[in-house]
Amino acid sequence: MSVPILTIDGPSGAGKGTVSRLIAQKLGWHYLDSGAIYRALAIAITEKGLAIDEIDAIVNTAEDMDLVFQCDTKRHITLDGHDITEQLSFESTGNTASKIAAIPEIRAELLQKQQHYKQSPGLVADGRDMGTVVFPEAQYKVFLTASALTRAKRRYKQLKEKGIDANLSEITADIQERDQRDSEREFSPLIPAKGAVYIDSSDMSIDQVVEEMLSLVQ
Ligand code: C5P
Repeated sequence: MSVPILTIDGPSGAGKGTVSRLIAQKLGWHYLDSGAIYRALAIAITEKGLAIDEIDAIVNTAEDMDLVFQCDTKRHITLDGHDITEQLSFESTGNTASKIAAIPEIRAELLQKQQHYKQSPGLVADGRDMGTVVFPEAQYKVFLTASALTRAKRRYKQLKEKGIDANLSEITADIQERDQRDSEREFSPLIPAKGAVYIDSSDMSIDQVVEEMLSLVQ
């Protein structure tokens, strides 16, 4: 029996994480946060003191990585037995993740890890290349975006709520730099999958986005 898949690709801050989790919950499907896999690898190599150009060592680290996603009342992610939930959301983690994500050997190593999440009764897969490369066979594909300023404001609010000091113009510049690197890289660039439904969430609430996506699947 084929497993239904909804892929949600788009730039960071478009609301993919929140929306994907809600949809997975509503449908009772599994959820793949592929960005967290790249981020976890970024943490693992930083802890080992590896440089971005030590590709073989990074690939080996990716191969050995024991990553566990747990979800009770809150989400907990452990890497090789230790909790990395907080570190995952650091800006520095996202930046390192985006640099290693441009390296084809690393993407190839992480491909199967991601494809293992395709399990019954269904999967919501959130990332940059879910509909184009990892699950090209998916029945439902969405490209979710929002303006850079909207995304920066959302990120700013999130950081402030966590008590982390933040600067809106720095966050906007950071988002633009990451968008450019993710969209212009040679391997698996961030582009809408063929046939993907395009949703701009700049002026939409989370509930509106969720409703629109659910109407595609149901
Ligand atoms: O989505 P998130 O911000 O957690 O992803 C962190 C980085 O990982 C992105 O900037 C992107 O470079 C990379 N990534 C990717 N492909 C994915 C998911 C994330 O290249 N499917």
